Amino acid sequence: MRVAITGGSGFVGSHLVPLLLESGHEIRVIGRGARPVTQQPGLSVTFGDVVTGEGLEEAFHDADAVVNLVAIIRAKGVQTFASVNSQGTAHVVKAAQQAGVPRLVQLSAIGAGPDPTFPYLFSKWQGEQSVRDSGLDWVILRSSVIFGPGDGFFTTLAKAISLPAPFLVIPGDGTAVFQPIAADDVARCLRSAVIEPQRAGHVYEIGGPEQLTLEQITLAIAAATGKEWFGIARRKPVHLDPRLIRPGAILMDKLMPNPLVTPQQLDMLVKPNVTTADSVVANFGFEPQSLGANIGYLKRPKHWPFSLLDQGKARAQNPGPN
Ligand SMILES: NC(=O)c1ccc[n+]([C@@H]2O[C@H](COP(=O)([O-])OP(=O)(O)OC[C@H]3O[C@@H](n4cnc5c(N)ncnc54)[C@H](OP(=O)(O)O)[C@@H]3O)[C@@H](O)[C@H]2O)c1
Repeated sequence: MRVAITGGSGFVGSHLVPLLLESGHEIRVIGRGARPVTQQPGLSVTFGDVVTGEGLEEAFHDADAVVNLVAIIRAKGVQTFASVNSQGTAHVVKAAQQAGVPRLVQLSAIGAGPDPTFPYLFSKWQGEQSVRDSGLDWVILRSSVIFGPGDGFFTTLAKAISLPAPFLVIPGDGTAVFQPIAADDVARCLRSAVIEPQRAGHVYEIGGPEQLTLEQITLAIAAATGKEWFGIARRKPVHLDPRLIRPGAILMDKLMPNPLVTPQQLDMLVKPNVTTADSVVANFGFEPQSLGANIGYLKRPKHWPFSLLDQGKARAQNPGPN
């Protein structure tokens, strides 16, 4: 099949594209070109902007399916939740209709719903409505938080845990709950949604095999990255009221290119990010991978606050052949 993937250069796209190529499909990645995509046989890269709709119809020409992976979790400039997640999806739908693409697969998020108190989830819900009303053979996957090389959530958490402190700061009471799913498993579900005709008109919620609290995830990452101890003392979780963290989150959101947490993310902690424990087995017929056994990639997160010091130390220990 010829599959056009908007947002194919992003985190999930970097796991879906190789899987579809391996399965013999022809892939067209569509984006604004802000992130590099490695050229390879069967893959082409085309400009398209979901905010303006520019380039989408041409990019979808001849495609058998469109997978829409474009969304933002943090608003910046013209990239707002409304312009990208909501209106952007409407532009993808319109372009797919005009280009005559039969199938549209939308990656949405667990918790997407009509409550505007949560702007990200509200905009994801609005995007879903455009897809449902499209008249195309649509499939919607709603995912819990996704882990794997290149992720945002777990890598950022690992950076926060890397900060030298005798305790581990946990926003809220630590009971916010998630069902982390591996990016490769999300890619397998997306592939089924693209190629299996009987999935048209269905919404699937997907999550990994474990439902874990934020505190459990924090402790697991601390253990996996060797950050359980501060000197001779085991680091203890300290729960901070999100209202106390909020001013810092607002500042980071304004000043940092990659803040450790945004105000919207703090707000969403009250919404359980889980589905049924067997969601992937029951709907897609395979056992998803657990977070605990697969977080080795977090050991040396890219761009962590002291990465230069860290690299210097690594070079001193292993100077290499030169
Ligand atoms: N990551 C998670 O934990 C998670 C959980 C649940 C659901 N989801 C959903 O999964 C999907 C993929 O997420 P992700 O984590 O892979 O996101 P990501 O890494 O941020 O990738 C987003 C992609 O969108 C493209 N993009 C951004 N603005 C665009 C625009 N105006 N026009 C065209 N392309 C644009 C980006 O490429 P350029 O910058 O080059 O344009 C990038 O390829 C999203 O719909 C998200 O809501 C993710």
